[in-house]
Amino acid sequence: MAASFLSYALSGSALLAAVSAQNFAGNGQSESAFENIQPINTTILTEYGSSPPVYPSPNATGTGGWSMGFEKAKAFVAQLTLEEKADMVTGQAGPCVGNIVAIPRLGFPGLCLQDGPLAIRVADYASVFSAGVSAGATWDKDIMYERGHAMAEEFRAKGAQIMLGPVAGPLGRSAYAGRNWEGFSNDPYLSGVAMFETIIAAQDAGVQACAKHWIANEQEIQRNPDYSTVDTTETTVAAISSNIDDRTMHELYMWPFADAVKAGASSMMCNYNRINGSYGCQNSKALNGLLKNELGFQGYVMSDWGATHAGVASIEAGLDMNMPGGLGPYGLNFGIPSYFGGNITLAANNGSLDMSRIDDMIIRIMTPYYQLGQDQNFPSTDPSTADLNTFSPRRTWTREFNLTGEVSRDVRDNHGELIRRHGAAGSVLLKNENNALPLKAPRNIAVFGNDAANPTKSSVLNQQNYEYGTLAAGGGSGTGQFTYLITPLDAIQERAAEDSAIVQFFLNNTLIANSNVSTMVIPRAVPDVCIVMLKSWAEEAEDRATLALDWDGDAVVDSVASFCNNTVVVTHSAGINTLPWSDHPNVTAILAAHYPGEQSGHSLIDILYGDFNPSGHLPYTIAMNASDYNALPTTGIQTNGTYDWQSWFDEKLEIDYRYFDMANMSVRYEFGFGLSYTTFSISDIQSSPLADEITSMPEAQPVQPGGNPALWDSVYNVTVSVSNTGDVAGAAVPQLYVGLPSSAPAGTPIRQLRGFEKVHLEQGETQTVGFELRRRDLSYWDVVSQEWLIPEGEFQIWVGLSSRDLRVQDSFTIVGQ
Ligand SMILES: *[C@@H]1O[C@H](CO)[C@@H](O)[C@H](O)[C@H]1NC(C)=O
Ligand SMILES: *[C@@H]1O[C@H](CO)[C@@H](O)[C@H](O)[C@H]1NC(C)=O
Ligand SMILES: *[C@@H]1O[C@H](CO)[C@@H](O)[C@H](O)[C@H]1NC(C)=O
Ligand SMILES: *[C@@H]1O[C@H](CO)[C@@H](O)[C@H](O)[C@H]1NC(C)=O
Ligand SMILES: *[C@@H]1O[C@H](CO)[C@@H](O)[C@H](O)[C@H]1NC(C)=O
Ligand SMILES: *[C@@H]1O[C@H](CO)[C@@H](O)[C@H](O)[C@H]1NC(C)=O
Ligand SMILES: *[C@@H]1O[C@H](CO)[C@@H](O)[C@H](O)[C@H]1NC(C)=O
Ligand SMILES: *[C@@H]1O[C@H](CO)[C@@H](O)[C@H](O)[C@H]1NC(C)=O
Ligand SMILES: *[C@@H]1O[C@H](CO)[C@@H](O)[C@H](O)[C@H]1NC(C)=O
Ligand SMILES: *[C@@H]1O[C@H](CO)[C@@H](O)[C@H](O)[C@H]1NC(C)=O
Ligand SMILES: *[C@@H]1O[C@H](CO)[C@@H](O)[C@H](O)[C@H]1NC(C)=O
Ligand SMILES: *[C@@H]1O[C@H](CO)[C@@H](O)[C@H](O)[C@H]1NC(C)=O
Repeated sequence: MAASFLSYALSGSALLAAVSAQNFAGNGQSESAFENIQPINTTILTEYGSSPPVYPSPNATGTGGWSMGFEKAKAFVAQLTLEEKADMVTGQAGPCVGNIVAIPRLGFPGLCLQDGPLAIRVADYASVFSAGVSAGATWDKDIMYERGHAMAEEFRAKGAQIMLGPVAGPLGRSAYAGRNWEGFSNDPYLSGVAMFETIIAAQDAGVQACAKHWIANEQEIQRNPDYSTVDTTETTVAAISSNIDDRTMHELYMWPFADAVKAGASSMMCNYNRINGSYGCQNSKALNGLLKNELGFQGYVMSDWGATHAGVASIEAGLDMNMPGGLGPYGLNFGIPSYFGGNITLAANNGSLDMSRIDDMIIRIMTPYYQLGQDQNFPSTDPSTADLNTFSPRRTWTREFNLTGEVSRDVRDNHGELIRRHGAAGSVLLKNENNALPLKAPRNIAVFGNDAANPTKSSVLNQQNYEYGTLAAGGGSGTGQFTYLITPLDAIQERAAEDSAIVQFFLNNTLIANSNVSTMVIPRAVPDVCIVMLKSWAEEAEDRATLALDWDGDAVVDSVASFCNNTVVVTHSAGINTLPWSDHPNVTAILAAHYPGEQSGHSLIDILYGDFNPSGHLPYTIAMNASDYNALPTTGIQTNGTYDWQSWFDEKLEIDYRYFDMANMSVRYEFGFGLSYTTFSISDIQSSPLADEITSMPEAQPVQPGGNPALWDSVYNVTVSVSNTGDVAGAAVPQLYVGLPSSAPAGTPIRQLRGFEKVHLEQGETQTVGFELRRRDLSYWDVVSQEWLIPEGEFQIWVGLSSRDLRVQDSFTIVGQ
């Protein structure tokens, strides 16, 4: 969901974000009829255009394996009164973060929507899984599935039909964006695979996934509009507009969502910001055009919390469910009005809203409900959520909710064991000199840094960048509430006891950074190993202010490493950090442990002591300097024109490694990089076509979820041999990168990830690994024909262990047909 729950709780001005100037008028014929968009620079807007109108909103058809649910949904809608129809598309204050009320006469229990992407958040006795960035860093499809499935089991057991995740927007255009860690990677291919696996897994467990935030939700700053404090219906400053050209939209930002739709995602959440000047939840090009027409999306679009700024206009543009709907006043002097609810009945009765559109909204909402069997034996909503819910506490409820069933159900099962492994698998070993790791039964261990031990404030509400305490997740609606937290220090002490070691620890970063560390340790000798635990916080509703480690982390490393010649640095972080000391000779190992979830300390010691051979790889690039990153968030707009917040995606396809490769820049650790305790080799690359004839244009087939099915046909198979050439068993991640022929349009990246596998190999073992390249993988988006086209000429294929450690290369030519 929404930041909104947080910012609303914390600040009245953020709550105003949900009160819009847009009225309910509009007949849905053109975007500009609803938004008086005044471009501030017509030269730029000519280049990008504004958002073109795409109407009418397409009906769902039940295609793509949804026909059973679709037929039942149609029969359900036929029984509804108009008031019930309005209820079906309008959220209400209630026990969950989003609620659709029950219709007892039809045996419909209502819908419970819960955050979020790494845990069922508003819950007790539930697990906190590894964050999206950790799952992305595993490059392991099995873990992505296992994590999604286990998480969804907890949603189901708690009686939540809808899981508000996974996240592919933000994709991670900017290194600083506050929510990147909720998603998997800034590479659309890697993110897309993770979206696909997570969604299939969640829905296999009987829970509806909600892919969010569609689309171009790439920064937090000014994601919502500001309103006049005098008249709360008057916008003073509109939300940031992500201005994106059509090709970039398709090849970067839409790509992982196409995988989500292909996986059968039940719902999509539209975003707070504007796209080409038009709000995400009333942008007909984005919702009707790209999502429902082009990608063939059969589910429903729900608004982010408070992102609805119009009634009929949003509905005609493709919005199907308004969340959280209206909220009554609570603790503040005003509520959030609903543009839906009673306005739907009014608009239907006076003929400004067609009944068939309302029916389509509900069919889209109820199709997954029936298709996933949620009408049969679905657990009731755990009543405890109502008491934990600070977003819509009981006093705000205006409707009846019957809460039955066991209170405070423990839904954690054996998930702690999985989380321990997932956390380790999402940790990336960046440096390991002199075989510093795994540790060899050290007897004298010193632990430094404020990320090592227990949070002193609270382990439960992970909502701020507290100074003392380990970080196992970021903040906002995408976090979880810990029922226990294994800290690094606890786990290290427990494990070190097996070797009768001493463990001394120093948690005050300021003190460490400003002290002569040799005078702090006892005995006054260099410890066998100095483990430095550092962190980087990120949260919803805020972009990161720095890529450096928090709390003077760099100075802590310098201080410790000046004295300790075996300094092992571990970061718990939202993602990209500058690591200026990475070449320090006394920094022998660096482990980027991301946000591992509740088993953090156990995940860590498994790697430190060699029980888990690291196999994570970076899902982003660590540049030499912070100033090397492009595509910064738009900040500090000093003028106060209503439409002054514009973010031009001028870098187009050149983000992260695509940019660094194009600019031929050195980086510290490139996209895809990650070490193991063993070594691997790759050889014998072979490419073979899987079709007799490969046309440039895909065969025009009826659209299915995911778009034209021909885009998903495998057209080439590339195989390599991968060998474990080291001393221990381990898992390699061979990565396939494609370079399109020179006939592809200008701006095509030099190489792009188009395949990867996680391959477990015993010492000395070799396996053949195949990568099936689909039509989409070899195509670019042609803005003229509005098709994915395979360019003519010679394709370069590289397979390596990172985006710059390319071990084998092959090429093949596709001639025009
Ligand atoms: C509008 O944008 C163009 C292209 O970026 C720039 O050259 C021009 O100076 C801008 N005009 C104004 C009034 O800001
Ligand atoms: C944004 O503007 C570009 C350039 O006019 C256009 O090609 C693209 O379709 C627009 N996208 C959306 C979602 O409005
Ligand atoms: C949707 O279906 C209804 C019939 O239920 C039809 O009247 C309407 O024209 C259809 N809308 C579109 C966009 O095809
Ligand atoms: C209709 O929407 C407006 C906001 O435009 C809101 O103030 C009003 O309360 C809504 N009316 C009903 C009946 O829900
Ligand atoms: C129909 O009802 C809506 C919602 O109350 C209102 O905004 C709109 O002006 C009405 N249209 C007509 C033609 O009366
Ligand atoms: C709540 O339970 C009562 C008594 O069984 C029933 O009459 C009512 O319809 C229920 N309401 C809802 C919203 O389920
Ligand atoms: C940490 O060390 C600094 C520098 O010595 C000191 O000012 C600060 O009070 C210490 N913090 C705590 C919580 O002890
Ligand atoms: C740190 O303390 C040790 C032991 O007292 C001393 O030998 C060393 O010179 C000191 N280093 C610095 C930089 O002051
Ligand atoms: C590395 O550590 C040793 C002590 O083990 C120290 O003498 C040396 O100065 C350190 N090197 C650097 C570059 O700080
Ligand atoms: C650190 O220094 C000690 C002696 O000062 C030496 O025995 C040890 O091998 C060094 N360790 C590393 C990792 O260089
Ligand atoms: C907008 O900025 C101008 C110039 O800085 C200032 O005079 C004006 O008062 C501002 N208006 C608002 C509504 O803040
Ligand atoms: C691609 O190659 C792999 C490895 O040889 C093989 O297992 C797979 O079946 C091949 N795929 C197709 C479609 O031939």
